[in-house]
Amino acid sequence: MNSFIIKGTFVHTLTKEKFEIKKDSYLVVIDNKVINIFDEKPKQYSQLELIDYTGKLIIPGLIDLHVHASQYRFRSSGMSLELLDWLNTYTFPEESKFEDEKYAKKIYSTFVNELKYGATTRACIFGTLHANATLILMDELENSGLISYVGKVNMDRNSPEYLVETTEESIAATKFWLDEIKLKNYKRSKPILTPRFIPSCSDDLMRGLKEIQKSYNVPFQSHLSENEKEIEWVKELCPNSKNYGDAYNQFGLFGGSCKTIMAHCVSSTDEEIDLMKANGVFVAHCPESNINLSSGIAPVRKFLNKGLKVGLATDMAAGSSPNMIKSIAYAIQVSKLYWRLVDNTCPALSISEAFYLATKGSGEFFNNVGSFEKGYEFDALVIDDSDIAFSTEFSIEDRVEKFIYLGSSKHIVSKYICGTKIF
Ligand code: GUN
Ligand code: FE
Repeated sequence: MNSFIIKGTFVHTLTKEKFEIKKDSYLVVIDNKVINIFDEKPKQYSQLELIDYTGKLIIPGLIDLHVHASQYRFRSSGMSLELLDWLNTYTFPEESKFEDEKYAKKIYSTFVNELKYGATTRACIFGTLHANATLILMDELENSGLISYVGKVNMDRNSPEYLVETTEESIAATKFWLDEIKLKNYKRSKPILTPRFIPSCSDDLMRGLKEIQKSYNVPFQSHLSENEKEIEWVKELCPNSKNYGDAYNQFGLFGGSCKTIMAHCVSSTDEEIDLMKANGVFVAHCPESNINLSSGIAPVRKFLNKGLKVGLATDMAAGSSPNMIKSIAYAIQVSKLYWRLVDNTCPALSISEAFYLATKGSGEFFNNVGSFEKGYEFDALVIDDSDIAFSTEFSIEDRVEKFIYLGSSKHIVSKYICGTKIF
């Protein structure tokens, strides 16, 4: 358990509407959690070590609510196709390589290293259908200090013969993987059930996963309403479902007592949005992925107006990198196009709203994470932006905006996750 005082300029979003800025202030952390931010050095905590970052910006860590570790090697290539062709052409052949544990170790350790030294403090991650490779990924994440939910992927239909399980194999491998995790006693790497999407998973598999979800009490992640052809395919596969979300819901795998993240929701109907709201489903908004695979623009303003839980994500390798700083900029940019080209009743996201999605929005999945409020777990990035902001020329808000558009891992001089200094 870590306790200390940190001095610097704190920027966070208690609500999405505006930044709270505390210039040259003192944040007290006791047992990994925020006590408060003080204008003066608080005398009652004088026994604690003071870590001085005067002049630097300190923001909450960024949380990637949806990313595919297994797609790391081919990131920033092969993005000329739409979803279903992209999966068949690039993604499935690459994911099949993770049967080889040496290959898995090489790719996953490089991926985790990039996350560790970047802006991401926590993430919800897809592996592949290989249980052992997924355990290797979880080991790497555990040792890095990053906090994560990681899923062994399930796929028992409509998949190439080199990357598919039988229903029984998929269920057995998922139980094996969850039992191994119990033995490992991870502190930071947690399991999350991860059927790839409805087209890849039979009804029997989904029923089996619901049983596992109940008996192991694990959360759930998948993809939803990303691409028009995918949505049409789900209609054919599930003629009795009211919509794509309902196809998960019919198995009890769509929020409620089953904590759920659904990535994309680009073409969700009002009915599907209402079901997500009623069931407390988290939307993982993946703006750059939706550009790269020509999927469209998710109606994030509608989600926010209706009070859905929304977080931000890279979805690498449909997103070109696991860089969450860029995701914030993309979220703002695509929301402007949505307003201009799709629906002029949906104003673009403000800087603070997009920042909120990447911090407190995604952070809610991890409970009290994503801001510097009292009782929140202390995840923070210490930013030296002197080469992009020239310190005094710009307001603090301007500096945050410039960091969102120009920032990279080289600006992050220190990083804390749940009170632990990572570097
Ligand atoms: N839908 C099913 N699998 C995938 C995937 O790997 N990436 C994306 N973007 N969508 C998917
Ligand atoms: Fe994805």
